[in-house]
Amino acid sequence: MNHCVVGLQWGDEGKGKIVDILAEQSDVVVRYSGGANAGHTVIIGDDRFALHLLPSGVLRPNVKCVITNAVALDPEVVTTEIQGLTARGFTLTERLFISENAHLVLDYHKTEDRLREESLGKNKIGTTIRGIGPCYADKVQRSYAIRMGDLRDLQKLRTKLHAVAEYKSKLFQVLYNAEAVDAEAVFEKCKSHAERLLPFATDTTEMLHKYIAEGKSILFEGAQGTLLDIDHGTFPFVTSSNSSALGMPAGSGVPAKLVDKFIGVVKAYSTRVGAGPFPTEQDNEIGRYIREKGNEYGTTTGRPRRCGWFDAVAVRYAAQIGAVDSIALMHLDTLAGLQELKICMEYQIGQEQAAFFPANLDKLSQVRCVYETMPGWDDDITGIDDFNDLPLKAQHFVCRVEEMTKKPVTIIGVGPRRSQTIFR
Ligand code: IMP
Repeated sequence: MNHCVVGLQWGDEGKGKIVDILAEQSDVVVRYSGGANAGHTVIIGDDRFALHLLPSGVLRPNVKCVITNAVALDPEVVTTEIQGLTARGFTLTERLFISENAHLVLDYHKTEDRLREESLGKNKIGTTIRGIGPCYADKVQRSYAIRMGDLRDLQKLRTKLHAVAEYKSKLFQVLYNAEAVDAEAVFEKCKSHAERLLPFATDTTEMLHKYIAEGKSILFEGAQGTLLDIDHGTFPFVTSSNSSALGMPAGSGVPAKLVDKFIGVVKAYSTRVGAGPFPTEQDNEIGRYIREKGNEYGTTTGRPRRCGWFDAVAVRYAAQIGAVDSIALMHLDTLAGLQELKICMEYQIGQEQAAFFPANLDKLSQVRCVYETMPGWDDDITGIDDFNDLPLKAQHFVCRVEEMTKKPVTIIGVGPRRSQTIFR
């Protein structure tokens, strides 16, 4: 049985925990998009693991982990994660595989990300400054892209890095009056990346098809969320990859029809980091309550997340384009203590009602949310493991999410631990 877990909001939905749980019944976990802009937190016992690049399944010792072609691979981050887990007793040899075709995020990508954001001033996207956009831009422009497989021929790589540095230096100097790129310094780092990472490099597409032929159970792990998808999100306030379920086939070389179930992950409210439209945002006491109770601060950047009500219009859209079979509703416990809860069930744009999410900035900026209001509950639900034991008001909230998104809620998160999960 193959599964794909994908975020249906603006990222940070709690995918890491769901992947970690589902990984128990999987042979292989595959990270197929994004880069170190992502931050997946998994809590096991008293240990907290914040992963940016390694698939969340890495915490299950028997699971193989694959990082595919479409991942923007920061060699420093992945090396730190490998070393960190090795020091905590995890074995990664013969268990972690990285695509030779994954594009490398190098220091000059991070510099470029920062310089561009600084130059945009109030129009900035609010990126994570992890070099993701510039790395994918180089991939699409092709001539100056560096891939994992390029680490195999260091002499050729050195020549290429000199050409890249010449080009980027001109760009940085002319556009930003910034320092030139030191090709030799980048090359020296690449030499050590080659030594540390090449043992993990392989053709992951071939490997995944072999696993499929052997009948292995594969779990695909999405990064970020559908509303940050470069093609289907709230452009230009998006990330630079296909972070929706639609990115899974191109991102891994495995056709979507070989996946048996797509699971969409959402929070019982909405959050977003960085700039961009957010129709249900609550920049007030309610938003602050959710932020503090849900610890809504970025795993990657530590930035406070913007918080708001659950947006059924946006989630319905994301669930539809991802053809998700079911929903995992996370952080239900965070809503406890709010007197009244709201779900946005429809948008009003001018005189018209919009039931379909308009992934278009002009329209989104005019949206007025039509809410359904329901009573909240005070009880602490973090110890509950059966749906029928939840307060009736919490059960009602879950049922309304199902009705409005038109998808069954089969998993409910009531706390950060593996055990704090209700299966229906
Ligand atoms: P970038 O991916 O660093 O270029 O950032 C582009 C936008 O995506 C910014 O608004 C980021 O805050 C957002 N973003 C990127 N990765 C994540 C994530 O894992 N969670 C939430 N937001 C993200």
